[in-house]
Amino acid sequence: MTGGIAAYKACEVVRRLREAGLRVTVAPTAAALQFVGEPTWAALSGEPVLASLWQDPHDVSHVQVAADLSVAVVAPATAHTIARMASGLADDGLTGTLLAATCPVIVAPAMHTQMWEHPATRDNVARLARRGVQFIGPQTGRLTGADSGVGRLAEPEQIVAAVLAAVRPRDLIGRRVLVTAGGTREPIDDVRFIGNHSSGRQGAACAEVARRRGAEVVLIAANLADPPPPGIAVVDVRTAADLARAVADHAQDCDAVIMAAAVADFRPRTIASGKLSKSSGSPPVELVPTEDVLAALGRSRTEQRRRADAVPPAGSGQVARATYLVGFAAESQPEPAALIARARAKLLSKGVDLIVANDISGGVVFGAERNHVWLVDASGAVEVTLRSKSLVAEAIWDKVAQSMNGGSPQPSEAV
Ligand code: CTP
Repeated sequence: MTGGIAAYKACEVVRRLREAGLRVTVAPTAAALQFVGEPTWAALSGEPVLASLWQDPHDVSHVQVAADLSVAVVAPATAHTIARMASGLADDGLTGTLLAATCPVIVAPAMHTQMWEHPATRDNVARLARRGVQFIGPQTGRLTGADSGVGRLAEPEQIVAAVLAAVRPRDLIGRRVLVTAGGTREPIDDVRFIGNHSSGRQGAACAEVARRRGAEVVLIAANLADPPPPGIAVVDVRTAADLARAVADHAQDCDAVIMAAAVADFRPRTIASGKLSKSSGSPPVELVPTEDVLAALGRSRTEQRRRADAVPPAGSGQVARATYLVGFAAESQPEPAALIARARAKLLSKGVDLIVANDISGGVVFGAERNHVWLVDASGAVEVTLRSKSLVAEAIWDKVAQSMNGGSPQPSEAV
């Protein structure tokens, strides 16, 4: 912890990390202690607080703590401490520990916009990023006073998600996975289309979590609201037909396919050339069905299983008989029993292994940072309560990895 007003939010981070079963040692700078006192950190973490290099000089606590760490997280990180980290300074318990640590380091900056945008801070952040430090935020929003801008600490939940992701087992190493994300757009004329509100954030989170857990990932991206996560092969598509072709090209040798994309069920039969003019009156737009990509994968897999030893030819749009298939079901259905029943019907009708179902009737899911879903498979339904889309993606991959790795849950890494 470093000395920023956002230190109070770090209390929540510590509490949630402990709830997630991690052991936490807090190393506050002297400035951090001006905001939140040592007794609070000690009570929240349940561990001795590493406040100085001098409190236990014989034990060289910072070196011992550093050797034990699975991950180090600096939240909030001031411009001053980011500068000290970039320069390798080690003049207090926090920076001494960070310099001795070999674990992944996550930094959640919090400062005024001018300090974040200063060339010195930009340089320091770039240097740390080159060394593999992962940055979470800062976000844009209300700062300490009445001012607002970029520099606000990431939400505790995002920080916790990043920490959990860093300590999770890399149980997808050697796996090849395909994820579709976003919403397709079906052109009416050269400027207009029929689309949907999907931002692609849940699918992108599935792709990013799979990469972090060691998988080789192909992301088929349909009109994403945000840039795709780094380190992933991305195939950009626009329409349902583009998406179907891209899936056919990439699904065949995948261990798992997650169809998070909101694919149009219908497209205009013809695309008017140029721009339809209202002077010509209201245009009749005839809609025809698109291919149900997920159902086609389900059918292809059933066929592979029926013809046990057949290997599908490359680029055939078929999947191997062991490929794990995940579909999404966005339903206007606030009643859990009815939502689960709809998801179970889709599980059977599309011939897939898992349906991730969510209720969209409140109108808050599309574009949101968080999601509340049910994971429905042949064995039943599990609720994943409201949390970041990244943590929802972790829960989905827990389920997929458990099934691909022989049915038993992977033991979590001790922290
Ligand atoms: N899906 C697909 N191809 C389509 C439509 C949907 O692959 N043409 C996939 C989606 O990616 C999602 C799943 O099917 O994983 C469920 O989509 P959804 O629209 O909820 O279901 P539909 O089959 O379209 O049923 P309905 O619209 O009647 O609810």
